[in-house]
Amino acid sequence: MGYGGTYWSRRPDAEATAQAALYRQLTPVVERLLERHLSLTKEWFPHRMVPWSQGRDFELDWQWTNAETEVTKGARSALFVNLLTEDNLPYYTLALDHSFGVDNGPWGEWGRRWTSEEARHSVAIRDWATVTRTLDPVALERARMAQVGRGWFPGFAGGVADGLVYVTLQELATRVAHRNTGQAIEDPSGRAILTQVAADENLHFLFYRDLATEAFALDPSGMVEAAERMVRSFEMPGTGIPGFTQHAYSIALAGIFDLGIYHDSVLAPVVTRHWKIEALEGLTPAADSAREALVTHMGTIRDAGARFAELRAGTRPATARAGPVSPTAPAAAAAAALQ
Ligand SMILES: [Fe+2]
Ligand SMILES: [Fe+2]
Repeated sequence: MGYGGTYWSRRPDAEATAQAALYRQLTPVVERLLERHLSLTKEWFPHRMVPWSQGRDFELDWQWTNAETEVTKGARSALFVNLLTEDNLPYYTLALDHSFGVDNGPWGEWGRRWTSEEARHSVAIRDWATVTRTLDPVALERARMAQVGRGWFPGFAGGVADGLVYVTLQELATRVAHRNTGQAIEDPSGRAILTQVAADENLHFLFYRDLATEAFALDPSGMVEAAERMVRSFEMPGTGIPGFTQHAYSIALAGIFDLGIYHDSVLAPVVTRHWKIEALEGLTPAADSAREALVTHMGTIRDAGARFAELRAGTRPATARAGPVSPTAPAAAAAAALQ
């Protein structure tokens, strides 16, 4: 059985040969990490976590206003972006297929298991947001149609090394975003659902981080170059959804996710402390330059995050430029929003 198949396996060049070698060497590791994952996951049911008794029918002429909810604007933006990202699952599965294959072996088994777990996230969050009237269901459905209809595709597809770096960072970023959103919501049922979803994302992150760690041991130069490419071009989950820039600003202002959090809670713990890229030895000259560029880029992200934190706290003049607030929100929009 096969789906589209990986991009690289259809190419006859040296790069494809290198990808195939990495893929083969990592296959027993995927098998081991999948077993670990299955022993750690616990079955859970969205329907048990949603407060259905709060629900009532939606009249045809009913229109949502923010008076329906006590959830703050920043947390609502985060819920909206997080949920639409989960809705985009078909394209993430497609990207996994292009990078790792969704065949009958361990890689495919992992990909299908991951997809099944991810699909539960949008079910749980949407049911909760609809029953509690936290989000406008009409705006949400229109945005879902636009998002899925657009077919936004994450930028890693096509290589094992690139894919491993991207999904590691993405799962951790998603875990942090869901967890912080849950903390920003006072309703215990909403908080519990987002905490549960974040726990799933954490296990996905650990699977990919540890698989990527093995890849660093097998091909340090290839992985450093992949890390530089992926951090340089990283797009937050949610990129491409309607109004993303304004939502990203609102999420940053609420302290749920911004560049500083991205640096301190995603990049530094993984790239610097776990993969220890600065301590790797014997890199090729190209990988050595890539490492230097990566460290510099991470410093730029850290500094931009610190500037935004000062603006948010009011310890930096409001006339100063905010710079970007998330890995993708354009600087101009963020600066304009601060006026
Ligand atoms: Fe998810
Ligand atoms: Fe996940």
